[in-house]
Amino acid sequence: MDLGTTLNILRDPAGIPFYPVVFQGLYVLTWALHAAFVLLALGGMTLSIVGATKQKSSANWKLLTGHMVQTSKLSVSLLILLGIAPLLFTQVIYDPNWYVVNSLSGVWVFVFVYALLAGYMLLYWFYYANKKGSSGSVLIGVISLLILVFAGLLMHVFAYESIQPDKWMEWYAPGGVIDTSGLNFHFNPVRLLFLVTLSAPTLGIFLLNYSDFVSTRDDFTPEYISFVRDLGKKIATFGLLASAVLFAGWMLLEGLLLNPLSLAIVVSVVVLLLMVRSNITSYFTTGVLVIAALLISALREYIRFDLMSGLGYNIYDYPMNIDWPSVIMFLLTFVVFGFTAIGWILTMAWKVGKTQGVFDASKDPIVTKLANATVAIVLLWCVVYFGWGMFTLFKNTIV
Ligand code: HEM
Repeated sequence: MDLGTTLNILRDPAGIPFYPVVFQGLYVLTWALHAAFVLLALGGMTLSIVGATKQKSSANWKLLTGHMVQTSKLSVSLLILLGIAPLLFTQVIYDPNWYVVNSLSGVWVFVFVYALLAGYMLLYWFYYANKKGSSGSVLIGVISLLILVFAGLLMHVFAYESIQPDKWMEWYAPGGVIDTSGLNFHFNPVRLLFLVTLSAPTLGIFLLNYSDFVSTRDDFTPEYISFVRDLGKKIATFGLLASAVLFAGWMLLEGLLLNPLSLAIVVSVVVLLLMVRSNITSYFTTGVLVIAALLISALREYIRFDLMSGLGYNIYDYPMNIDWPSVIMFLLTFVVFGFTAIGWILTMAWKVGKTQGVFDASKDPIVTKLANATVAIVLLWCVVYFGWGMFTLFKNTIV
């Protein structure tokens, strides 16, 4: 049996509940969101560790370090949350790939979960030790960062192995002898290094946003704001240049240097460099960074799509079994609930940051309206979700 037929047999016989291109689009979007917080967490932790070594002699570093540890802590929780979405979309349209890799590298899948737990717990330890001014905090921060980078390496191993179905047999039964150890570990250093290095421009542009954001408050001195802005500019410039070199190397190896998507990424990097070096409001720079992140995410997907269709597995031919109720429930949850709840949290976070002293959310009409709407939608959602579930259950078992 040829590889394409094998891959197609491994698909879910029940088919997928909606058009594959929609899952593909959602994968690209949600992976970009996952990556944004991965990069901010890794960049923020690196800066916090550097800051922890300098904060004794500098008030600026002391303030920035505390804020960056906090940023990294929140980013890890968001990267985990936002990692689940692309994982689900991958499992829908590329299920043969994901499940085979989970067998070939099963031990590493377990290790990933415990590494993430250990790395995140140590990050909390770093946070408390840093707050207390403990001398061992730097060491704890470094160990936490190394473990989280290792978790990223494992994620890369799974992604990289999953797009090489032509090697699966060789890894599963090297020399004809079946290897069930689950210890396969194959990676691509250039691709990984490029993705991890993106944490520098992400961190640099975040620092520019942060300095713009706090610049309207009286309790942050102009000296501190320009310290953060200069640091952000330096990190973003260096990071963009380093990422550009690694990107060119990766594309050269993939034979995609002149692909329109690669060229669009190069253009976005040049635009970002110009914006970072100018004095333009950094929120516009972040807009371009979002476009660059979506392009990179689309390129990753293009590489996979191209490889898989070359092997005879085309996601657009995936058998479809449209399930309208699930589709409507998903879209309504995603759009109505998602946008209202995120709108509420973001509005509140913005206002908390912009307020001197304590922000009383109950006295703010917009935040109060959004909060009430979110609670009402959650209650309605629960009634519909469980009511519908019960109805389906009893309909199928009794009738
Ligand atoms: C600190 C922890 C993590 C780091 C540093 C990290 C980093 C990465 C990196 C670098 C990639 C790209 C790999 C590549 O394209 O070569 C990736 C992909 C991915 N990550 Fe994460 N990740 C972390 C945690 C998670 C978690 C907890 C989840 C799920 C809940 C997750 C879900 C995903 C998914 C679905 C992909 C795409 C896989 C594919 O396309 O085949 N990640 N991650």
